[in-house]
Amino acid sequence: MKQFVWDNKYNVGIKRFDEQHKQLIEALNDINKAMEDKWDKLAIAQVINNLKKYSQEHLIEEEKFLLDIGYPHFDEHKKQHTIFKEKLAKFCEDFNSDRCLLHFELSVFLKNWILSHISVVDKQYSDFLKSKGLL
Ligand SMILES: [Fe+2]
Repeated sequence: MKQFVWDNKYNVGIKRFDEQHKQLIEALNDINKAMEDKWDKLAIAQVINNLKKYSQEHLIEEEKFLLDIGYPHFDEHKKQHTIFKEKLAKFCEDFNSDRCLLHFELSVFLKNWILSHISVVDKQYSDFLKSKGLL
């Protein structure tokens, strides 16, 4: 499967967050590779663990930042993060119950998140910062 490649149009302009967002692209590529490797189970466990760490670190950090800058769409943004965390918890459960198609569903979920959250919703706070002359 073709590797998903980071595009500069996904940049929010805050180096730390851009670096963290790139971790999701790595996770997506890892999961796609695991599918090719006969649905490697160990690899998906690793990806799920990384995503748990990601949500504990990055999402919380981003929310704290948005509060600090007085971002007007904070509540909607946080709601999306909550949905991400709930989905992830469901993927963990599914992993423990050995459900098939998990790799595929996780791959679709990550790709959608990159294309709809990182490159659209996260970009909105970047635009907000620019409009305030803060970026
Ligand atoms: Fe976000």
